[in-house]
Amino acid sequence: MTTATPTAPAQPHAAPAASGASTIESVLVENRVFPPPARARDGARVAGIEAYRALRQEAESDPDAFWATRARELLTWDTPFTRTLDDSDPPFFRWFDDGMLNASANCLDRHIGTPVEDKTAIVFEADDGAVTQVSYRELLERVGRFANALKAQGIGKGDRVIVYLPMTVEGVVAMQACARIGATHSVVFGGFSAKALQERIIDIGAVAVVTANFQKRGGKELPLKSIVDEALAMGGCDAVKTVLVYERTPTAWTRNDRDIPFGEALAGQSADCPPVPVEAEHPLFVLYTSGSTGKPKGVQHSTAGYLLWARMTMDWTFDLRPDDVFWCTADIGWITGHTYVAYGPLAAGATQVVFEGIPTYPNAGRFWQMIERHKVSIFYTAPTAIRSLIKAAEADAQSHPDRSDLSSLRILGTVGEPINPEAWMWYHKHVGGERCPVVDTFWQTETGGHVITPLPGATPLVPGSCTLPLPGIDAAIVDETGNELPDGTGGMLVIRKPWPSMIRTIWGDPERFKKSYFPAEMGGSVYLAGDGAVRSAGTAAMDGADRGYFRITGRIDDVLNISGHRMGTMEIESALVSKTDLVAEAAVVGRPDELTGEAICAFVVLKGPRPTGDAAKALAKELRDWVAKEIGPIAKPKDIRFGENLPKTRSGKIMRRLLRNIARGEAITQDTSTLENPAILEQLGEVN
Ligand code: PRX
Repeated sequence: MTTATPTAPAQPHAAPAASGASTIESVLVENRVFPPPARARDGARVAGIEAYRALRQEAESDPDAFWATRARELLTWDTPFTRTLDDSDPPFFRWFDDGMLNASANCLDRHIGTPVEDKTAIVFEADDGAVTQVSYRELLERVGRFANALKAQGIGKGDRVIVYLPMTVEGVVAMQACARIGATHSVVFGGFSAKALQERIIDIGAVAVVTANFQKRGGKELPLKSIVDEALAMGGCDAVKTVLVYERTPTAWTRNDRDIPFGEALAGQSADCPPVPVEAEHPLFVLYTSGSTGKPKGVQHSTAGYLLWARMTMDWTFDLRPDDVFWCTADIGWITGHTYVAYGPLAAGATQVVFEGIPTYPNAGRFWQMIERHKVSIFYTAPTAIRSLIKAAEADAQSHPDRSDLSSLRILGTVGEPINPEAWMWYHKHVGGERCPVVDTFWQTETGGHVITPLPGATPLVPGSCTLPLPGIDAAIVDETGNELPDGTGGMLVIRKPWPSMIRTIWGDPERFKKSYFPAEMGGSVYLAGDGAVRSAGTAAMDGADRGYFRITGRIDDVLNISGHRMGTMEIESALVSKTDLVAEAAVVGRPDELTGEAICAFVVLKGPRPTGDAAKALAKELRDWVAKEIGPIAKPKDIRFGENLPKTRSGKIMRRLLRNIARGEAITQDTSTLENPAILEQLGEVN
């Protein structure tokens, strides 16, 4: 067995402060380098860095031919396309747009009559540990039956269906069934509140909601159906004619007129439902994500370009092989659960694990025990999970990964937030046994799939760096006006050329789409990611071969990343000020957190007198619970501080930088003499 060893001793040292974007403060130069082990390189689809460079060169020299070849080879078309890219109306790029296909047919029917037909598609492990397996043929039948049940409710092409389901086979089936009949799904994460659900139901104009009576996580039953009832009762949801209810637990639930239990909906339905061919640009799904305003954005994805990317990155980033067991731990409520659970692995004919529960139940060794039990070979999770499992393993040796046989693993991945080098090293050593490449995949809801990531058989790895753009991704780091910055200088991450799986628009708001992602100051056709990044000028340890390696430094807009989940500061502020009997004003900032990456810190001015002591604690709790009710528990501020006022500039703008300093407990270096009431800084420093 070949073991990757660092080519240089660990000696990270501080680099000069990066400039370009105000939130980018400093970066570390990381000198540890891990070349792809022979085991990962041999037989890899992209073997060695030269092979990667050749692929990139090919994509650059003739992008149309590059994508057209792959779209023909990797997707099955009902009507072949003749046009690869229509860029006549930027930023509304269209790909393969005169072709027709069906996403579900590409994930299921495509495998019928091949050896994949009888292969296990999904190994489902329930919260309580029960395991069930579903083959590709069985999955096709279940999707067909569910699709017919949707049709029986009058749902068809162009309709929108909200999926509010737990991580179960049924979740994947519901998404695939929508795709099969040309309905656009919008999955809402089970942790979102009734209010958040209602907003999404209204914005998308849903005709149906698919839900479960309860979800089971960590041994607890959590309601879903009653939250749907609450959302629908809030008003504005008259378009919803049907609520399909999966009875996940035997627990009783309240049945209303429009509710149909799965059992009844599926009874007598045929498993045969011919897939409906749709235009390549037909919206496969809309997924809501947080932006810089209080209103979440409905990110709209296409069918063909999106699916191509999901399929292709299974090959590129995970170097998927026929006998792999793939496990992506993300929930279907997030983009990762779309691309790397519901679509990519199925389109690629992989066997994948779907897990209902949480990593710490019944103990914090659950992930490692599951890897052993299911012989997982590709494991893909979030840095937050890794950090919390490191902590758990340190506290309790029983939950340490070395208690499980992890020898089936060959590739590890991370996604969702920057991974700190220490967590990377632990993951590489204790989970990967120093033999598995760790692919740190950078991407976003809007990019549809990976855009900057190592390839396991090709790219030398540097902990904390997502390394190099995928072929065809023209990533660059620029200043506010779009000028490219030299390596080593921090700035804004952009992608200068369109790619097939990019966001098509914001549902119902093309102007916001243009303004948010394609700023006029940069010419109107360059995609602005909203992240700060810096590129390595090359380290001595690699003889400079890592020149151009990307390191993401975090969001440059008002978006926070809490445990890999995106949350807009404005959304939380809106939720707080909507408690009109109590709150006069609120400002929310993020501060670094060892476990969750970032933590939410809210500064609140009350309508009444500023509370102190126990009264402040009680009010902070009341506001936290309020935010959980308005958005969901993930949006609960960790810190709430009360002041008689907020620090503002003369023009009335809240001085967020100052608030960030206070939240982090940092010394305030900027001039505060213009503040109306400098004493509030002291007030705001008091933690409740
Ligand atoms: O800030 C970046 C961070 O997550 C944001 C995208 O969040 P979302 O749309 O919810 O998608 C998460 C799953 C793809 C990005 O703007 N992010 C994601 N992956 C990484 C990352 N930051 C650093 N390194 C990553 N690998």
